[in-house]
Amino acid sequence: MSGHAVITGGASGIGLATARLLLSFGWQVSVLDQSRDALAGADRTLRGEEVLLVETDVTDEEAVEEALDEAEEAFGPPFGLVNAAGIARDVPFEETDAELFRQVLEINLTGAFIAAKATVLRMADGGAVVNVGSVSGLRGNAGRVAYGASKGGLITMTKVMAAELGPRGIRVNAVLPGPIDTPLVRELHDAEQRRIWRERIPQRRYGEPEEVAAAIHFLLSEAGSYVNGHCLSVDGGFLAAGILRPD
Ligand SMILES: NC(=O)c1ccc[n+]([C@@H]2O[C@H](COP(=O)([O-])OP(=O)(O)OC[C@H]3O[C@@H](n4cnc5c(N)ncnc54)[C@H](O)[C@@H]3O)[C@@H](O)[C@H]2O)c1
Repeated sequence: MSGHAVITGGASGIGLATARLLLSFGWQVSVLDQSRDALAGADRTLRGEEVLLVETDVTDEEAVEEALDEAEEAFGPPFGLVNAAGIARDVPFEETDAELFRQVLEINLTGAFIAAKATVLRMADGGAVVNVGSVSGLRGNAGRVAYGASKGGLITMTKVMAAELGPRGIRVNAVLPGPIDTPLVRELHDAEQRRIWRERIPQRRYGEPEEVAAAIHFLLSEAGSYVNGHCLSVDGGFLAAGILRPD
């Protein structure tokens, strides 16, 4: 099964790996991303007629509508949406100010809502949405007061959308990645952080963007046809684990 999928944040990391995978399965892909540099890089790696790259800030409703107009003109109504646009910050609760808190929620949660609403209204009956949450949306990971709150909200939004859109044949799920080797994490995690994370992960390693893309593809595709409102962790066992034996 294939169709037209919109991927926010599709110019880097998990979104880019998802774009690459969907294209290999014959999907048409519209990438909405705010980074001109990342889009230029994606343009070099995703050459082909079945991809459209549009510079778009997902927090800007008008820009999202314009980008979706372009996408629809190129490939018809969207069948799939992947909300991968996001930013991460590691700041202690007592040092987080309201401005930072608002900024993270605005991009990770409100931006996902804006893209989801605009895309879903353009879907014919039938479709699939995958929101990229995080293990930090379920667990109280230190330093993630804004980021974790934004992803917790995204998880709840996923469930509400699944409940409301199911009758239209639109399934809505989330993936919850653990630490994945992407530009975002390379900036956020120093050597000490990487050691702490690895100690807590039964598989003892970071994930690759392609491993998250595979889960997103499953949820978008016919193989996931009765999976709705689910949060699929892609985390090497982080959420499942309690105490671990030292190496
Ligand atoms: N990498 C991880 O370990 C990890 C873990 C859990 C969840 N996630 C989530 O996965 C998603 C993708 O992260 P990634 O690691 O691939 O990061 P990334 O930085 O490689 O990619 C994120 C992309 O989102 C784009 N973006 C940011 N703000 C935007 C905006 N306002 N409008 C449009 N595009 C915007 C960026 O330009 C970038 O291309 C994020 O939502 C992130 O929170 C990542």
